[in-house]
Amino acid sequence: MNLLESIHLDNLPKHVAIIMDGNGRWAKQKGLLRAFGHENGTKSVRTTVESCAKLGIENLTLYAFSTENWNRPKLEVDTLMKLLVHSLKNELKTLQENNIKLNSIGNLNRLPKSIQKELNEVITLTKDNSKMVLTLALSYGSREELINAIKNISDKVKNNTISIDTIDESIINEHLYTHNLPEVDLLIRTSGEHRISNFLLWQIAYAELFFTDVLWPDFTEQHLYEAIISYQKRERRFGKTSEQIKK
Ligand code: FPP
Repeated sequence: MNLLESIHLDNLPKHVAIIMDGNGRWAKQKGLLRAFGHENGTKSVRTTVESCAKLGIENLTLYAFSTENWNRPKLEVDTLMKLLVHSLKNELKTLQENNIKLNSIGNLNRLPKSIQKELNEVITLTKDNSKMVLTLALSYGSREELINAIKNISDKVKNNTISIDTIDESIINEHLYTHNLPEVDLLIRTSGEHRISNFLLWQIAYAELFFTDVLWPDFTEQHLYEAIISYQKRERRFGKTSEQIKK
């Protein structure tokens, strides 16, 4: 049965975020180099992006490279960077055809100049697309994002641009990389790991979490539908009682 038929299109998560994990193990299981895992991971990126856009998900955020990933062997970092430039070049057509706007979050200054250039070009070329915002988290770390936000807010307090009493959730939101995005409704992590790994810590405060054992290169649109169906079965109470929600 195609799981698509079980999805309620009037109750889609507005923002889906994915920790794409398991590329290395996928390759190892097949006796291949880790690079092949990442390469096959890009295929899952494409099908997931297209499926989300077709369904009507308005925001998709993918954890493509964390601040901690810089500590991997240089060869692997270089491979991932090459794959990213290659994908950005190749996927521009898919983004335009599907009316998808590219966005990025993270400490982008740390990325090689070639990636920054390619990224900015694709962001500019897709800026008027309106069906879905695809955000790539690159050189992203949630703690670093929060430290930056705290520094910027402190600076404004020091300059008397804002007073301490006015600091609230919306001021924090405005100072995060994700200031243009709604909070995350559904967070998916593949590969059987049950961790958040420094991803969108503030933004997932009330997200529904979905963990699957499937390794990222094996993640298909049916797995995505499974996650959305699970999300739709849950009662999101945001701290209230079940009775209050049903009123
Ligand atoms: C985790 O698998 C995956 C990554 C660190 C990188 C994700 C990158 C891609 C899917 C490819 C390129 C991305 C885009 C957006 C085009 P892992 O290496 O940690 O796997 P393991 O835990 O099995 O070792």
